[in-house]
Amino acid sequence: MMNNEMDTEAPLQHTKKIWAVGGGKGGVGKSLVSANVAICLALMGNKVVAVDLDLGGANLHTCLGLPIPQMTLSDYVSKKITNFEDLLVSTPIQNLKIISGAQDELGMANLKHMHKNQIIRKLTELDADYILFDLGAGTAFNTIDFFITADKGILVVLPEPTSIENTYRFIKSVFYRRLKMVEGVAEIEPMILESMNAKITSGAQSSPADLIKKISEINPEVGLRVKAEMAQFRPNLIINQVRSQADIDIGYSIQSICRRYFGIEMTFPGYLDYDQSVWQSVRKRKPLLIEYPNSKLVNNFDRIVHRLIEY
Ligand SMILES: Nc1ncnc2c1ncn2[C@@H]1O[C@H](COP(=O)(O)OP(=O)(O)OP(=O)(O)O)[C@@H](O)[C@H]1O
Ligand SMILES: [Mg+2]
Repeated sequence: MMNNEMDTEAPLQHTKKIWAVGGGKGGVGKSLVSANVAICLALMGNKVVAVDLDLGGANLHTCLGLPIPQMTLSDYVSKKITNFEDLLVSTPIQNLKIISGAQDELGMANLKHMHKNQIIRKLTELDADYILFDLGAGTAFNTIDFFITADKGILVVLPEPTSIENTYRFIKSVFYRRLKMVEGVAEIEPMILESMNAKITSGAQSSPADLIKKISEINPEVGLRVKAEMAQFRPNLIINQVRSQADIDIGYSIQSICRRYFGIEMTFPGYLDYDQSVWQSVRKRKPLLIEYPNSKLVNNFDRIVHRLIEY
């Protein structure tokens, strides 16, 4: 719920947007993207909160040039602090605040269902124009749920086979999680399981797109619901560490494979060049876009953020 002041001042215009940054593999640039997209949005005058949901391996603060925050989500879960807003930490960038992930053993897998729902509710209640979720690697149930909660899902991929495979695995996890949320699909559970376990290389016969067709034949009403749910699933792809046109083209082929295999449309707002300034800024513990204003990545991020706002 919004606070009273906003309710009276701008009842309709204030639409908070949650963007989640994920991708199956570790080290692909999720935190880099979360931090710098957040910076771009803040520099444009938006009130932004970046949330480190990489519980167990939190490092978003480093990408934003901050020391390890004193209060983290873990302190909220353990009830060391009770006021969620006390977790907000200011950054050197105006309009941008951060909520840090845990520095201890609180992994995504250990986050209880109740805590997760409570955190999601508190996050959606924050006073901000944009909220960025920096997710951890992997396809833990909770990570997928945070991804699904967002209005926009962003997937960071490296032009490498392992990263691409992990991206498909991530999309597949989100696909079936969303599918299970559709009312009436429980009765066709065995069919879903069969499709879920099929390999992506085993051809179209057992693809998720094919499953949707089958569901529609068996029960047109449920089929329509499934189609509507999947039409809402429109992940945005960012190819990171690009060194050639061939690397950029991988984005288009992932798009077309997702259309054919999953029957879902993906948008491709852009790519990020491989650039020395990234690890240099990490080493200096300074935000990239602020420390290296002449880096190629400034234009890369500018284009991506403008497209993400448009889509
Ligand atoms: N465009 C780039 N050019 C050069 N180096 C890059 C680029 N993007 C990422 N890197 C390197 O990869 C490292 C990992 O990036 P980052 O921490 O953002 O990944 P991550 O996906 O958040 O990782 P994790 O899964 O561990 O949270 C960076 O510290 C940097 O050294
Ligand atoms: Mg990270």
